[in-house]
Amino acid sequence: MILGIETSCDETAAALVTTGGAICSNVVSSQADLHARYGGVVPEVASRRHLELIGPVVREALADAGATLDDVERVAVTQGPGLIGALLVGLATAKALAWSRGLPLAPVDHLRGHVASLYLEPDPLEPPFLCLLASGGHTLLLDVRGYDDEHVLGTTLDDAAGEAFDKGARLLGLGYPGGREIDRLAAEGDAGAYDFPVARVPGLDFSFSGLKTALLYATRDLPPEELGARRADLAASYQRAIVRALVERVREAANGMGATRVAVVGGVAANSELRAALPDAALAPLPLCTDNAAMIASAGRFVRALPYPSYLGLDAYASR
Ligand SMILES: Nc1ncnc2c1ncn2[C@@H]1O[C@H](COP(=O)(O)OP(=O)(O)OP(=O)(O)O)[C@@H](O)[C@H]1O
Ligand SMILES: [Mg+2]
Repeated sequence: MILGIETSCDETAAALVTTGGAICSNVVSSQADLHARYGGVVPEVASRRHLELIGPVVREALADAGATLDDVERVAVTQGPGLIGALLVGLATAKALAWSRGLPLAPVDHLRGHVASLYLEPDPLEPPFLCLLASGGHTLLLDVRGYDDEHVLGTTLDDAAGEAFDKGARLLGLGYPGGREIDRLAAEGDAGAYDFPVARVPGLDFSFSGLKTALLYATRDLPPEELGARRADLAASYQRAIVRALVERVREAANGMGATRVAVVGGVAANSELRAALPDAALAPLPLCTDNAAMIASAGRFVRALPYPSYLGLDAYASR
């Protein structure tokens, strides 16, 4: 089995996955409540919490799988990108566990991890495919040609799609993290109530900052009781604009390269309207959309692992 460890942002996660891609356990401890009152993740608070949680989370992942460290043949860990202090906690834990058992260590890129959420049982996807990765920190269109071979076709010029959801939720007074809240509230609203713009930028890139400003203008002139009454319509219209921007780009890219298979991964892949708008796409399973360690263990199957003990000096990286 492969032990996966993920601590790049505010989820402390560990999972056990077989070399064939079956998930034996997948433990995610979210710190969202801890950061909610700040309206976003506070990096130093996240690192300290990872430090408290990582031991119990790894133990729980082993227990859930009915396994011990004797059953682990490789440790996979997120090396970056993410919050550097948070990443270092996971990396140091992975090094210590691998070193204590003389095991190899597989450093995993977090974004490749999101893509590798598609490679797990019971319904694994095989490259090649066109992949939309939409998360809290990234919005990428990827031409995935092999398990360790992907090319960036487009990216966001400003905010990530998940960031647009989170910032929109804050403007609507919905708290953090906001994507799921907007998704829930949008179901009660009229998506045609507001005509929010979808930015047209050249090529296959994305832009969401203008949309966020449009929502700001729509909300700031409303008296508080009016905002309460229009909140669901605003959420539905705002979500519609984000989803439309994503889906249009995916379609353009798929047509342009003649891609027959399209996949969607990352936290925003959990969005119900986006899932409904791409009925033929391979969608990451809901529990594997937001950060988790099963996807990191999955990606760890396809990277060249560093042999014991050559990884002890390995560093984390904050951005790609
Ligand atoms: N149902 C949903 N609808 C829309 N957005 C959602 C939904 N559920 C979660 N999200 C968004 O997904 C994001 C979190 O996803 P994820 O955990 O993949 O991102 P991250 O790890 O913070 O960023 P990155 O992977 O780029 O480093 C948040 O922005 C959150 O609002
Ligand atoms: Mg992520």
